[in-house]
Amino acid sequence: MTTNTETETANLRERLESAWLRTDAIFAMLDPRAWYERPIPLRQPFIFYLGHLPAFAWNQVVRGVLDREDFRPEFDALFARGIDPVGVDRYEPDAPTQWPEPSEVLVYRDRVRDALRASFDAVAERETNDVLAERGRIWQLVIEHELMHQETLLYMMQQLRRDYVRRPDDVPAYCTGASARGRAVTIPAGTATLGADFENAAFGWDNEFPRHEVEVDAFDVDALPVTNADWIEFVEAGGYDRPELWDADAFAWRMRVDHTQPLFWQREGDTWRYLTLFDDLPLRDVAGWPVFVSHAEATAYARWRGADLMTEAEFHRAAEGAPWGDPRSSNIDLTHWAPIPAGSYSESASQHGVLDLIGNAWEWTRSRFGPFDGFKAYARTYPGYSADFFGDQHRVMLGASWATDAALVRPSFRNWFQPHYPYVFAKFRCVRRGSLLSPA
Ligand code: AVJ
Ligand code: FE
Repeated sequence: MTTNTETETANLRERLESAWLRTDAIFAMLDPRAWYERPIPLRQPFIFYLGHLPAFAWNQVVRGVLDREDFRPEFDALFARGIDPVGVDRYEPDAPTQWPEPSEVLVYRDRVRDALRASFDAVAERETNDVLAERGRIWQLVIEHELMHQETLLYMMQQLRRDYVRRPDDVPAYCTGASARGRAVTIPAGTATLGADFENAAFGWDNEFPRHEVEVDAFDVDALPVTNADWIEFVEAGGYDRPELWDADAFAWRMRVDHTQPLFWQREGDTWRYLTLFDDLPLRDVAGWPVFVSHAEATAYARWRGADLMTEAEFHRAAEGAPWGDPRSSNIDLTHWAPIPAGSYSESASQHGVLDLIGNAWEWTRSRFGPFDGFKAYARTYPGYSADFFGDQHRVMLGASWATDAALVRPSFRNWFQPHYPYVFAKFRCVRRGSLLSPA
């Protein structure tokens, strides 16, 4: 007879193995000349991530939960943590790190993977007296960490020279063309449900708990995110040179790094080109895609339109009834390998008719990343996952991008970045509160 635990363990094993396959496929896209490149000055070079994924898994499962002896402690430490990008545009390490050769890191990775494969029973034995072994939480944490960094790697590759990134065979043709037609929708006052219930959730990161309700006033929200076509108007209106539209810190960043257009755009004479992960396209072909910008830029645009970004609670009101985590009804899970015209999937509409809240790109909110009331850093092996980032410096992003694995796509999952982090696959839309659209 197979027990419940055996079935669950088999399932976790399978999910971990397939996460590794996807990681390996993503690293295989990288030209070997790029291992030591650091295309995002706030993050480590690619070689770091090759070691970070196994080191993290080792530190969490084998050292953290099973308390076993290390075989390569220098690597466990060297690859333990990424840069914590707080308050800077560039990270300059005190002393340049001597990174090992990829071949040496691969030997380490394979040894760690074998050790993990051999650890499932030992973790399962602790199920009744360790919250991290219960429901295989530590495995889910390791799997989801791996999946999150797959997206990190892809948005880092997006910043490389095009000839350093190889296109996988199964990438379909781009979906070009105009976006769907959008309008503003009134969301009546009501109760938003945020977060998840620890006892009932299959898994969640510490910042997702507890489940709670928030009363939200009526507001009007655009059914569609702001597109590249919309953004051209902002550029032509001189939006990047009008400090009154920007938050002070945001404008200081815009000046400091001389940021005058979305990061994926390139000027060509009087027109624009658009960089995808693999290609360089005329912007007019992708005018219907949501524009990918930083929170700083998004906020300036919204102000220009006399609008604002959604709060985290407003997002959850707007998204009521939308389908989560299904690659057939939203652009997630590396299906298209690029954005698609905004509103293409009518099946992704919420019950209020708001489109594209899930998939295509993460959605910036105006909300600061903070703990929910009753927050607990329940993972003793990783107490700083969220707590190190709570406060004024980071804004919450919700939903998912085209590069987000379906396993991460759930209402309670919260992502966060600094307002002036332009690298992520993130979009936004405008909301208006107390406007003419909603009488009374
Ligand atoms: C939650 C996506 C902001 O990328 O820095 C990975 C996830 N934390 N390893 C990040 C994370 C540690 C984190 N984000
Ligand atoms: Fe990490």
